[in-house]
Amino acid sequence: MKLKIAVLAGDGIGPEIMEQGVAVMSAVADKFGHDVSYKDALCGAHAIDEVGDPFPEETFQTCMDADAVLFASVGDPKFDNNPSAKVRPEQGLLAMRKKLGLYANIRPVETFDCLVHKSPLKDELVKGADFICIRELTGGMYFGKKQEPTVNADGIEDALDTNYYSRPEVERILRVGYQYARQRRKHLTVVDKANVLASSRLWRKVAQEIMGEYPDVTTDFMYVDNAAMRMIQEPKFFDVMVTENTFGDILTDEGSCITGSMGLLPSASTGEHTPVFEPIHGSWPQGKGLNIANPLAQILSVAMLYEYFGLKEEGSLIREAVNASLDQNVRTPEIQVEGGAKYGTKEVGKWIVDYIRNK
Ligand code: IPM
Ligand code: MG
Repeated sequence: MKLKIAVLAGDGIGPEIMEQGVAVMSAVADKFGHDVSYKDALCGAHAIDEVGDPFPEETFQTCMDADAVLFASVGDPKFDNNPSAKVRPEQGLLAMRKKLGLYANIRPVETFDCLVHKSPLKDELVKGADFICIRELTGGMYFGKKQEPTVNADGIEDALDTNYYSRPEVERILRVGYQYARQRRKHLTVVDKANVLASSRLWRKVAQEIMGEYPDVTTDFMYVDNAAMRMIQEPKFFDVMVTENTFGDILTDEGSCITGSMGLLPSASTGEHTPVFEPIHGSWPQGKGLNIANPLAQILSVAMLYEYFGLKEEGSLIREAVNASLDQNVRTPEIQVEGGAKYGTKEVGKWIVDYIRNK
């Protein structure tokens, strides 16, 4: 297969993990005879520094011309504690999601048996937990009408975000949820706050209308506060959950830590234009340049990319290599066993590339 990949390495540890992601992608392409080409593009703080825009038009065009985007991470502490900064790296990510119409964010929460002990939860709760959160990504409060902090007519400073959803936006993401549920254990949990929020009542109404079209899937409804609790009490309850943008943001951070391995979770964002594959973690500025960042989430994002194009064996080989590296304790410091050898970002990446080449 011929694949054109836009490479958006971004900030912090982004370029280091991306280097390993691309190396793995190329090793797999060589092995299976795919013709993969790459084009780098600027985004995030890096792009603000260079061209004053966190998602420049040129980057957008590179993404539109590509078959897929491989994205690493954006963010820089110099923007974090400055509420009056005019542009922020994160706006680049949001612009990318909106302009590429990436309404479906697929975040698998998978456990690796050898890392279960890293979870803050008891082993028996975590072992075998395996679910997917489908997060709506281009609507809700993130993109609804906003008013930045302003002093109003009564002399009181106020601000506003609007949690707007339309029926078509809700329906299409629910259908993505059903498609995934059908390929898995056929259990869909719609997470909302329909006891309080009007937008959630729309979600529930639409879900109740379409659920009859999926009689093979068990649908249940859960309030988000309850879902947050259930995720730590009984993570194995879930198979596929589907939820709005803001709830999905929060719940997927929770999900990533129950597995004990935030640095290992990849994601895919799909929708109207080019799909994007990225780790769910951020740019970890403290780890930048130290060769200690875990490249596995980026590498597993490459697996998701291949799988998206129906290249199952390619994806499986990457997963196999990742599992082998963990089994052999070829691990970055944050997941290394006591007394285990020291491996950096580069060494883990190289080990996985060699495994793929020698297979
Ligand atoms: C995520 C991140 C982003 C979000 C930030 C960086 C804007 O937390 O992808 O979950 O809130 O969506
Ligand atoms: Mg988040």
